[in-house]
Amino acid sequence: MPFNYKSFIKGTYFPPGDKSISHRILILAGQVIGKSEISNLLEGEDVLNTLKAMKQLGVQIKKKDKKYFVFGTPPGGLFQPNQKIDFGNSGTGIRLISGLISSNNIEVKLVGDRSLSKRPMKRVTEHLSKIGAKVELNKGLFPPIKLKGSGNAIPLTFEIIIPSAQIKSAIMLSALNTNGTVKIKEFKTTRDHTENMLKSMGYNIKVRENSTHRFIEMKNNKELKTINYNVPGDPSSAAFFISAACLRPGSKLVVKNILFNKTRIGFIKTLKNMGGNIKITHRKKIHNELIADLQIEQTKKLNSTVLKPSDIPLQVDEIPILSIAASFANGLTVFKGLKELTVKESNRLLLIHENLKKIGVKSEIKNYDLYIFGNNDLKKGGATIRHNDDHRILMAFYISNMICKKNNIIKDKSCVNTSYPAFFKDISQFCN
Ligand code: S3P
Repeated sequence: MPFNYKSFIKGTYFPPGDKSISHRILILAGQVIGKSEISNLLEGEDVLNTLKAMKQLGVQIKKKDKKYFVFGTPPGGLFQPNQKIDFGNSGTGIRLISGLISSNNIEVKLVGDRSLSKRPMKRVTEHLSKIGAKVELNKGLFPPIKLKGSGNAIPLTFEIIIPSAQIKSAIMLSALNTNGTVKIKEFKTTRDHTENMLKSMGYNIKVRENSTHRFIEMKNNKELKTINYNVPGDPSSAAFFISAACLRPGSKLVVKNILFNKTRIGFIKTLKNMGGNIKITHRKKIHNELIADLQIEQTKKLNSTVLKPSDIPLQVDEIPILSIAASFANGLTVFKGLKELTVKESNRLLLIHENLKKIGVKSEIKNYDLYIFGNNDLKKGGATIRHNDDHRILMAFYISNMICKKNNIIKDKSCVNTSYPAFFKDISQFCN
């Protein structure tokens, strides 16, 4: 089936395993003596790099019949690897595992690909230095990270001023081998999977929220317990299909077993505000995470919307695909406060703007705010998309074929393997 402006989104769709949860379950199960069992792990490159990293650090991981079995080392018991650890494209992998290593008495060099080597690491390592780890960064900012952990980490109180689950989780992982109480204050809009998983594993963690902030307290006086975890579907991957269904009246999509954590589904609220007809069914809670099914039956075209800066962390990875939906929605959409998008796998803010222009959509950037002048007319298309090997830019602009008269050209599609290896297979199955 060709995928173009005549396509509809139809069927019953199980999104691939959630990337954030897949990283975390490998890392945390890797900190428990005994056997943990993981099913529906995302087998994307980012997660497989975390898996390899954990193996290099002494954790045993075996796969049998689609399930992964993890036999961990206790907190503080990571092995000294005999080689550098390569995280490929993954900011989550390198940042979280830096945190884990920082309170272990080992010395490691952590490296990444061209994109990861340009991403800011000081936002994490400045905290790790305070607990006693020795850190060297390229130009004081970027990977490779040369990290010498401290076997005697200092328990501290942290205040994180960038809304980032990766910074928070790095500190939390360092706390696993820190004696005393570690306290963290951060924005409550960041994803809280590390907290939820630690609670399920019997860890001594207290989490409190007010209207803007989250307060976390961790004490390593209880042993982590093994866990059996079925990774729910990734909302950030499903977002391509959910958005596509909403922007194309006549689409009918059922999404099964999707992670429905409130810090991850901002885009669903946004699409609903734009006129997306999304119903939520079969809600359940497993391991402190909400999971649900969705029913999308789109009859009308979308309208524009405005997001304020505090809405962005709740949909930080979905802005590229929401930009496509906004382009085909009536009126001016504004996404405010997109500074964090400039330090993702690519400068997503610039690439969204540049590619929108190429396909025939007017947009403007003012002070990290993105203005998209949308309407329900088909765009000219026929453009060569610049994706700089950023998986989410590529997938978003592949979906843009649905709103263009002429299909766009995308060269080298291999970067979808980062987060969604079955993306094109799923497109051919659910788009007809
Ligand atoms: C992630 C957190 C987010 C997100 C990334 C995955 C995580 O980054 O963009 O894709 O798993 O913790 P920040 O929290 O650093 O913004």
